[in-house]
Amino acid sequence: MKLTVVLVFSLSLLLSMNASAADVAAGKAKYDTICASCHGATGKGDGLAAVALTPKPADLSKTLLDSAGLANIIKNGGPAVGKSPIMAGFGGTLSDVEIENVAAYIKTLK
Ligand code: HEC
Repeated sequence: MKLTVVLVFSLSLLLSMNASAADVAAGKAKYDTICASCHGATGKGDGLAAVALTPKPADLSKTLLDSAGLANIIKNGGPAVGKSPIMAGFGGTLSDVEIENVAAYIKTLK
């Protein structure tokens, strides 16, 4: 009896975690369309547009930002965190969920 309760509890916990987990594949799709031109296909900061930019797009595989920090700069842009305006804010293009997904994808680039 107790075991059943524990099992049902763990299962519902697992399911609820899964429901709120970010969609990495959806994040990658957005990244490839909007971010890769500057940050590069694998996030190294070597996208086609990077040659012409100063400062260079950040190497996202080495970012020290956590999920909240990533979401903040993606949504509000470089100037919001004391960085270059070349890193635009995407709050008008991407929903909060989409930003969360992109941030989750970036964390897989490490
Ligand atoms: C026009 C080129 C360009 C595009 C497009 C672009 N970025 Fe950036 N991004 C930059 C530049 C340049 C910086 C570095 C700013 C600085 O160092 O002052 C930067 C910095 C960042 C950082 C900060 C990393 C750190 O550790 O400091 C993150 C995260 C980031 N970009 C994510 C994204 C995401 C996600 C997208 C797509 C939604 C995106 N960028 C689109 C140019 C771009």
